[in-house]
Amino acid sequence: MLAPAAEAPAAALQRLMARGAAFLGSRIAIMGGAMSWVSERHLVAALSNAGAFGTIACGAMEPDRLAEEIAGTQALTSNTFGVNLITMHPRLEQLVEVCLAAKVSHIVFAGGIPPGSAIKAAKAGGAKVVCFAPALALAKKLVRSGADALVIEGSEAGGHIGPVSLNVLAQEILPAMAKEVPVFFAGGIGRGEAILSYLEMGAAGVQLGTRFVCATECIAHPRFKQAFIRGAARDAVPTVQIDERFPVIPVRALQNEGTRRFMEHQAAVLARFQAGVVSKEEAQLEIEHFWAGALRRAVIDGDVEQGSLMAGQSVGMVTREQPAAEIIAELLGQAEAALAARQQAVLA
Ligand SMILES: Cc1cc2nc3c(=O)[nH]c(=O)nc-3n(C[C@H](O)[C@H](O)[C@H](O)COP(=O)(O)O)c2cc1C
Repeated sequence: MLAPAAEAPAAALQRLMARGAAFLGSRIAIMGGAMSWVSERHLVAALSNAGAFGTIACGAMEPDRLAEEIAGTQALTSNTFGVNLITMHPRLEQLVEVCLAAKVSHIVFAGGIPPGSAIKAAKAGGAKVVCFAPALALAKKLVRSGADALVIEGSEAGGHIGPVSLNVLAQEILPAMAKEVPVFFAGGIGRGEAILSYLEMGAAGVQLGTRFVCATECIAHPRFKQAFIRGAARDAVPTVQIDERFPVIPVRALQNEGTRRFMEHQAAVLARFQAGVVSKEEAQLEIEHFWAGALRRAVIDGDVEQGSLMAGQSVGMVTREQPAAEIIAELLGQAEAALAARQQAVLA
């Protein structure tokens, strides 16, 4: 066997991705992070056909609608892909059944710790289970409950986020869990050099969302894509909560008229609460309802002023619309070039 320093970059990268790729059943250990409204059959199939691993975002879909989306994806690709289910969906059990009936190979549970019964049902039906681990204690608990792989997603990511950066999660969780299960890194990843570093650190693979929004195959509205192409890292910020009595779930999104109006909305609701016009519960609900349907409005209708432009800090690395296969090739090329440069440095 060749010594790693003399190994061709493409082969060395493949070796670093081998565990993750074997787990996913794909050629490349890059997962397309599920994005509600964005990750439907076209983007998912395009990523899987490019050798990566697409994931359908179930979001608020009802079981019949999910079954349709899975069948639609299977018609477009014969490669593996996953389905991302939100744990607080009221029909979680039926959604798991839909996945199993369609022989979906991987179920990703997101948006909270899944009930043990859902993990058991998914595994008993033959699916591999992937869970998000927001802290080490929970990572251990999830693996004890049967999770076959973990995603650690840093606060750099787009959409709903936790408070901790990928840099810290990687140090806290990876050393303790890498031997147990494959660990995939997510949040703020936009280039191949970073993918290579995480693989060298011990990641089994990575998950990217933001970077794939401007894939040609992605059905997002052209105005949504334009906002990503224009956006810089510093424009993708978490939602601001103005009063600790009224918690706001942090969501990272590009700032727009909607995010500005949300501040005014919170202030107005707070004033009505303080004046005794609405109860605490009513005020909390009014704050939560502000964003209802907002992601759909931006992604599908193209309302980039009032809708939610969920995006990660990696948005600054999205510079144009290009086919999914080209994005994947670019990421691999950057990783291989970085490997080659390191080999040169060793030989020099
Ligand atoms: C527009 C958008 C919608 C998202 N929706 C979901 C979702 O429905 N379920 C989920 O688990 N993650 C969701 N995410 C997170 C992604 O799956 C992925 O983990 C994240 O985008 C990775 O970070 P990155 O954006 O920096 O690449 C969403 C992200 C974005 C940008």
